[in-house]
Amino acid sequence: MNKKIKNICCLGAGYVGGPTMAVIAFKCSHIIVNVVDTNQQRVDAWNANDLNKLPIFEPGLDKIIAETRNKNLFFSTKIEKNISNADIIFISVNTPTKTKGLGAGKASDLKWIELCARQVAKFAIGHTIVIEKSTLPVRTAEVIKQILNESQSKYSVDKEKKTFDILSNPEFLAEGSAIQDLLNPDRVLIGGDNKKAIDSLSEIYENWIVKEKILHTNLWSSELAKLTANAFLAQRISSINTISVLCEKTGANVKQVSKAIGLDHRIGNKFLDAGPGFGGSCFQKDLLNLVYLSESLGLNEVAEYWNQVIEINNWQRKRISKLIIEKLFGTVGGKKIGILGFSFKANTNDTRESSAIQISRDLLEEGAFLIIHDPKVNIKDIEYYLGPNQKRDMQIDSETKGYGCWSFTDNLEKIYQDSDALVVITEWSKYSQIKWDIASKNMRRPGWVFDTRGIINIDEVKKNGLKIWVVGNGEL
Ligand code: NAD
Ligand code: UDX
Repeated sequence: MNKKIKNICCLGAGYVGGPTMAVIAFKCSHIIVNVVDTNQQRVDAWNANDLNKLPIFEPGLDKIIAETRNKNLFFSTKIEKNISNADIIFISVNTPTKTKGLGAGKASDLKWIELCARQVAKFAIGHTIVIEKSTLPVRTAEVIKQILNESQSKYSVDKEKKTFDILSNPEFLAEGSAIQDLLNPDRVLIGGDNKKAIDSLSEIYENWIVKEKILHTNLWSSELAKLTANAFLAQRISSINTISVLCEKTGANVKQVSKAIGLDHRIGNKFLDAGPGFGGSCFQKDLLNLVYLSESLGLNEVAEYWNQVIEINNWQRKRISKLIIEKLFGTVGGKKIGILGFSFKANTNDTRESSAIQISRDLLEEGAFLIIHDPKVNIKDIEYYLGPNQKRDMQIDSETKGYGCWSFTDNLEKIYQDSDALVVITEWSKYSQIKWDIASKNMRRPGWVFDTRGIINIDEVKKNGLKIWVVGNGEL
């Protein structure tokens, strides 16, 4: 008989831990779900009475939290107690790219994973199933196993013997559609070598997902499949972005090309939107992980192949900044440029690896005054990447010779006033509804619109006397 799960603990209340556990609690009212985090502020935000203050914005998340929180879903910092009470523990902590030491700039930093394994080793009681939910380098389960197994002798004295099963259950949700992805996933992947443990985890998902969608593999296939899925998705974006510049130079239109190739069912129509380069916390990190793995195995050609996907992404961002500067007569010093969108994609407040960061930095470097708008992003996140918001007057300041400055507004109309250009970086739907007659009246001439997402009504912009450049379409 496999173990019946009554109590779940999730380590990490982030973009994955929070929504994933909320959906499990929503679909499994018979299971108690405790999401724990070391970050008190984040936990407090998860417990906020005002559901607009949850730490993560995801469409539909607030409703699920309202249904489940403090019924069978709990957020706290009580890590030890909740590890001890759990039948199953999801490790859903951050695994960013290492910034120093061995493998810096490529390998994942596993210090948070290791810490979790040590905490589980210490506080777990009886038999516990430990699940890798975070995205991890292939064979990380071996490290976790070793830490847990070695703890048995150390912490089991005088107590019931601790035992563990380790499974890999990577998460495929995308931000902005996390709740829909969790409610109706393409597949659930479970890697492991113990059938009973696999069945216990499968049973949780079977509360709302048909068995046929729950795939069982060995541990290493599961870990590698997650990295591979992200690498393939990222590769499609870099591929279409290389085509976007070919379109701009030849008179082709990238949307038409995408449509034409996407109708071939072997290619498919998803992930063919040209843009300012992929952002988000996953694609670059997971590609770097694959590059590092390949290099460590002496597979330099394989490493170089996947590295090129990142190189093209960086190039796309740089070429957009350069193009903006060139169109504005080769200088943006003292010019006011509106940045429309700072999150890495629409429907999320997440700014990690957003292309807006690089493009803004490039323009600041050239002395521009940026006025940034985003409907969901917190100004503190922008400050983290661009430095302090200087709240300087947006008038051209003759004394300013060096770096530009930026300010933030959540009032879209303020962004137009005296702007020389508007740069659409995130595909928020409200940007496709901009009233160009109002924008145009308030902008300086010649006023430019740079649409890096291809969402703006070109005719309206032109009708109102502004110039427009669209990714994969060029100057129109
Ligand atoms: P995140 O940074 O939003 O959240 C991680 C949380 O873990 C943080 O709140 C941190 O305080 C907490 N934490 C760190 N150490 C802890 C510990 N010892 N005990 C308890 N809490 C601890 O990260 P995320 O975006 O949720 O990503 C988590 C993992 O899931 C990563 O491996 C990521 O690659 C993977 N993933 C992310 C996404 C995504 O869309 N963000 C999608 C699929 C997979
Ligand atoms: C990604 C994976 O999609 C998801 O399965 C995984 O679990 C986590 O990483 P996420 O980063 O949240 O999800 O968003 P995604 O929709 O994949 O977009 C990533 C980036 O690619 C965004 O910056 C997005 O704007 C960009 N993108 C996406 C494009 O530029 N063009 C496209 O056609 C699709």
